[in-house]
Amino acid sequence: MNVTVIGTGFVGVVSAAVYASFGHQVIGLDIDENKIKLLENGQVPFYEPGLQDLLVQQQTRGQLKFTTSYADAIEEADVIIIAVGTPSAADGTADLRFVLACAQSLAPHLKENAIVVIKSTVPPGTLEETIAAIKEITDVNFYGASLPEFLREGSAVYDTLHPDRIVIGAEDDFVFKKLEELHKTLNAPILHCKIASAQMAKYTANSYLATRITFINEIANLCEKNGADVGEVIQAIGYDKRIGQHYWYPGLGYGGSCFPKDVRELAAYSRSIGEEGNLLNRVNEINENRIFRLLKKFMETTGSFENKTIAVLGLSFKPNTDDMREAPSTKIIPYLSNHGAKISSYDPMAKYLPSQNEIQKQYPSIEEACQNADVIMAVIEWPEIINFDFAKVKSDKIQFFIDCRNQFDPTRVKNWQYHYVGIGRR
Ligand SMILES: NC(=O)c1ccc[n+]([C@@H]2O[C@H](COP(=O)([O-])OP(=O)(O)OC[C@H]3O[C@@H](n4cnc5c(N)ncnc54)[C@H](O)[C@@H]3O)[C@@H](O)[C@H]2O)c1
Repeated sequence: MNVTVIGTGFVGVVSAAVYASFGHQVIGLDIDENKIKLLENGQVPFYEPGLQDLLVQQQTRGQLKFTTSYADAIEEADVIIIAVGTPSAADGTADLRFVLACAQSLAPHLKENAIVVIKSTVPPGTLEETIAAIKEITDVNFYGASLPEFLREGSAVYDTLHPDRIVIGAEDDFVFKKLEELHKTLNAPILHCKIASAQMAKYTANSYLATRITFINEIANLCEKNGADVGEVIQAIGYDKRIGQHYWYPGLGYGGSCFPKDVRELAAYSRSIGEEGNLLNRVNEINENRIFRLLKKFMETTGSFENKTIAVLGLSFKPNTDDMREAPSTKIIPYLSNHGAKISSYDPMAKYLPSQNEIQKQYPSIEEACQNADVIMAVIEWPEIINFDFAKVKSDKIQFFIDCRNQFDPTRVKNWQYHYVGIGRR
């Protein structure tokens, strides 16, 4: 099958390489010339474990090509997968500008009976809007479908090769059959559903996970007031099979390229259809305030940040990615800086670009980042951070150890004579 993936970001490159590995003839298309140049040379423009090898493998086999030309990419395509960004606009709604721009650009080149698939996360109504935009330009018969993406950055290749399910939202048997064929190599359940159900499923999955994080953070707040340990509470509730031990992350709140925007977008969507009181509006509000509530608490606990050097360990939004979109560090470092701190940071992959008035230096090792620190703030649970050697950073200057994701044993930290600060536990 000839497949074109529009948008060679995280989702697009992974999808293109994986579809190529299934034996399809795949073209990755982007308007970003620099990105396409890198990809043509077998280089992934971001860090994603396993992707570089898969990309080069498929290029060498002749299954995968990249271009900036809509004509070259669309004319022969049986399936066109739109995987461009859908950031949230200022009012929280999904900004569909990039999706609709794809519609305009692909329409003149569309071949008879091609299927235009939206993989980007979009609210109900978007596919219909996209189809209408294409129909304004061409009379060619084509089909539309929704194929939401559930991969996680950091394990995106594995997730795409071993998905929990494939969800196809469409109206025609022809489309269901063709998109089933596209995924036939996979050993995963394939669900056929209405277009709106597929779109809702994607937002619902992320909003549920984000709500679970927000829920346990709210419980952690209560534990901090009454001396309970949120870790013990999680263990106790987790034995209930309806609840489970998994996916409990008390911390600074959820961040990253998807959860914040998807919750905001579903909340905005709820308001747009007259459901102003929808829970997700509150989840979004709590999460946006959470990091500042905790930073204020950390500041009070340490006395002040003024003239202190704070070692911030972990800059990306989660381990195994260099993605900085809505990473906690992008709020922490400006806050610390505004309160008079100097920041020495470390991350195995991600880079933080300080703004003009921030005193921030990034070091290549944890030891160097902690060398002159008064406070260590362990933000992201990269394996090298949670397993770092305390003996190597020991210094009498360090007074506080802030464990933003409850990854360290408080007794162990206290044994090194640091004051331990965790989330929902003492
Ligand atoms: N990143 C994730 O983990 C993830 C997971 C599941 C779903 N999603 C969803 O997938 C979509 C893509 O996310 P992403 O993180 O890969 O985005 P991204 O920002 O990394 O990449 C988007 C790409 O689209 C390109 N683009 C923009 N307009 C274009 C146009 N008119 N023609 C061709 N290319 C164009 C950009 O240059 C960019 O390379 C979003 O809707 C997102 O919500 C993302």
